[in-house]
Amino acid sequence: VVCCLKPAASSSLSVAESAASESLSRIRSLSQVSGVLGSQWGDEGKGKLVDILAGHFDIVARCQGGANAGHTIYNSEGKKFALHLVPSGILNEETLCVIGNGVVVHLPGLFKEIDGLEANGVSCKGRILVSDRAHLLFDFHQVVDGLREAELNKSFIGTTRRGIGPCYSSKMNRNGIRVSDLRHMDTFPQKLHNLLSDANSRFPDFNYTSEMLKEEVENYKRYAERLEPFIADTVHTMNESIAQKKKILVEGGQATMLDIDFGTYPFVTSSSPSAGGICTGLGIAPRAVGDLIGVVKAYTTRVGSGPFPTEILGQGGDILRFAGQEFGTTTGRPRRCGWLDIVALKFCCQINGFSSLNLTKLDVLSDLPEIKLGVAYKHADGTPVQSFPGDLQLLEQLKVEYEVLPGWQSDISSIRNYSDLPKAAQQYVERIEELVGVPIHYIGIGPGRDALIFK
Ligand code: GTP
Repeated sequence: VVCCLKPAASSSLSVAESAASESLSRIRSLSQVSGVLGSQWGDEGKGKLVDILAGHFDIVARCQGGANAGHTIYNSEGKKFALHLVPSGILNEETLCVIGNGVVVHLPGLFKEIDGLEANGVSCKGRILVSDRAHLLFDFHQVVDGLREAELNKSFIGTTRRGIGPCYSSKMNRNGIRVSDLRHMDTFPQKLHNLLSDANSRFPDFNYTSEMLKEEVENYKRYAERLEPFIADTVHTMNESIAQKKKILVEGGQATMLDIDFGTYPFVTSSSPSAGGICTGLGIAPRAVGDLIGVVKAYTTRVGSGPFPTEILGQGGDILRFAGQEFGTTTGRPRRCGWLDIVALKFCCQINGFSSLNLTKLDVLSDLPEIKLGVAYKHADGTPVQSFPGDLQLLEQLKVEYEVLPGWQSDISSIRNYSDLPKAAQQYVERIEELVGVPIHYIGIGPGRDALIFK
């Protein structure tokens, strides 16, 4: 476990000690404000890296999304915690967790997470700050999410139905309700009434009643009281912390290919999971942001609808799906699987300016005799496509050019040094680096926290 690693002391280090010392200095050399961002369509395994890095930062912050993200993390006794809104730094007593202005907050969900943590001895008071500018996600947003997906019928987006999109819609419509509004319970009922009437005029099946409003206002009076000690001007906190040279880790949810601007619109999430979302979602300047680590699976998966150029249909997809356990964590829905898409990855690297990559789940490819990399896109007439296209119709019609590399067909899950990986595995890693022009500094070779190679 990386947190327990000791720095190098003498020249007579064992190979393991020297590797551990190198890993520690790699983590310590990360910039004051660093971030971990998804570089595909989500579920890349960001949680593990965030969990490992969190203990080395003073603050762990979320800047976008809501309870549609989140990671599974483990405490030092191996106890599992599923977090959706609370940043992953919460298990480390010294770390302050910030839920930034760009996040949409479902208070009953947040309190449930806090209750679960406190019941397991993790103290949250004074350690979680919720931005007064963050928007509140109400139960009705979740109902509307379902109604909208039902209305779209066959062309549904495949959202998690947690109300994230409808809440961001309220925000953009400028009738959303923010955390700071909880401090003004005199005007809160009218604001909520406006929101609910709006939803009802759009979705008559929503059946808004005055009873509904009354009940929700009573709930929110209680929530407001409970949330008060957690509310903060986090923009001030973040900037003060930067001035005090505190180390900040930004924990990204979802991924760039699901970004509202750069993803495969409309099959995207409603926030900005790419680098820009760090500044808008936390109120910090672009020049304060340093190292950004892109997390990328050694192959590609995607949940729900939308184009997926390197998708493997049929049995080939099943092999990856079962080897990688690619089934939705809450829904159990099988994820669509395919080869690593270098064109999409290069696009993500461009947009985010990643300083390094974390290649995850390399172990999942271990049984394959050969592995493909989608290296270029071509139009139907054979002419090359310059970059990842915004035009979905084009994306659906283009042809992918593949490079085929040999597999290694051996178990790599217990390997901890890069040089011990089979040559074919090293060749795969290095070919990706060469094609995208960004170094791979971390390689996941198993789900365990220690199953990580520092390259
Ligand atoms: P979202 O934020 O929802 O996109 O998910 P995520 O990127 O946080 O993914 P998560 O951390 O939930 O990881 C997905 C799964 O992959 C978890 O079950 C991890 O244990 C597993 N995982 C992570 N890294 C590796 C790896 O290198 N190998 C294997 N076999 N499993 C891994």
